[in-house]
Amino acid sequence: MSITTTQVAIIGGGPSGLLLSQLLHRRGIETVVFEKHTRDYVLGRIRAGVLEHGFADLMREAGCGERMDAEGEIHEGIYIAHQGRMDRVDLAKHTGGDTVVVYGQTEVTRDLYQARADMGGVVVHQAEDVALHDLKSTTPYLTYSKDGTSHRVNCDYIIGADGFHGPSRKAIPSDVLREYEKVYPFGWLGVLSETKPVSPELIYARHDRGFALCSMRSQVLSRYYIQVPITDNVDGWSDDAFWAELKSRLPADVAAGLETGPSIEKSIAPLRSFVAEPMRYGNLFLAGDAAHIVPPTGAKGLNSAASDIYYLYHGLLDHYLKDDDAGLEGYSETALARVWKAQRFSWWMTNLLHRFPDSAEVDRRFQQTDLDYLFSSDAALASLAENYVGLPY
Ligand code: APR
Ligand code: PHB
Repeated sequence: MSITTTQVAIIGGGPSGLLLSQLLHRRGIETVVFEKHTRDYVLGRIRAGVLEHGFADLMREAGCGERMDAEGEIHEGIYIAHQGRMDRVDLAKHTGGDTVVVYGQTEVTRDLYQARADMGGVVVHQAEDVALHDLKSTTPYLTYSKDGTSHRVNCDYIIGADGFHGPSRKAIPSDVLREYEKVYPFGWLGVLSETKPVSPELIYARHDRGFALCSMRSQVLSRYYIQVPITDNVDGWSDDAFWAELKSRLPADVAAGLETGPSIEKSIAPLRSFVAEPMRYGNLFLAGDAAHIVPPTGAKGLNSAASDIYYLYHGLLDHYLKDDDAGLEGYSETALARVWKAQRFSWWMTNLLHRFPDSAEVDRRFQQTDLDYLFSSDAALASLAENYVGLPY
């Protein structure tokens, strides 16, 4: 068995792990990232595309903002379509000028991989059987195998940024870990197509047939979603059926302007709310999807991961550069306070805009009234806007 040493061992080469590795390396703190899959596999996953302004700033601080700033689009508002009309939420007006950046997670991840490579950062791909050891001691370590050889990595801290299915959360004893979960009775069928987006800003649509979302990756690449029963299979959805269903859920004038084309990706994602507490166990720190999942309605998945990384980054900087452990000691509590607010917002947006299979007429009237209230109240609009652009770190 080979034995190596690093300061911070990071499990998972998704956006969370890569961003932390990049930020720390720039401040002279040594990290190694251990990723189960190949880089191409990680980059093949199509995920969301709305970055809070705080996350965009963190990408810039990581030295990874150049392409995002050149190719991403700043959005100052979103539309909510309901009862046949479009109402706009002016994000900038209601937040004193804050906006979001529309830039795909795949591109964020690509830029992070490029930056890691440019700095000579170490990312070990196809690391198998990663296991965590002695987490409560001051000498934690992890083991893994690659190409048939076993390795041991000694470190100060282990970061579990290995997504929902990774080993890190499972390394916390069950009498310590508390998990909160809500599974929604529907999924999102998503289509990526090389067509011009139907609207310059995102449209979130509430309709009696179900929710729909019009999003984009660029001016020539659209991303659309419709709510479907969780029992549906993508093979049962032809492109024609998808476009027809999407149009039926949009206001008539919007539907009339929708450019359709062949799908280049089509998949169904389940919707779930999930939080694991605490996010720290000894010298293991969880971040991103390893600790929490949101339904995508509020565009908070990647952004919640980024806020964890912000707190961890500053906690680790304080430890290594100032010998101050207050940030690390408070990490779980601080990160979870913001995570729960993103959870609440995502749950509220999901409830506001979806058709629930078992809902009664009274529930639909509550939804409609929630929307009527929203667009009649600057206070309500400001609340939506400040959550959508991202609460302060
Ligand atoms: N060993 C090493 N790596 C692992 C292991 C393992 N046993 N299990 C999982 N991984 C890797 C996965 O292959 C993946 O690349 O961990 C990475 C986790 O990445 P993500 O799932 O993308 O999670 P994260 O980096 O926290 O990204 C934030 O928020 O809502 C989401 O879509 C959003 O994926 C985004 C996430
Ligand atoms: C996306 O573009 O994929 C997207 C945008 C906003 C959301 C969810 C997904 O709320």
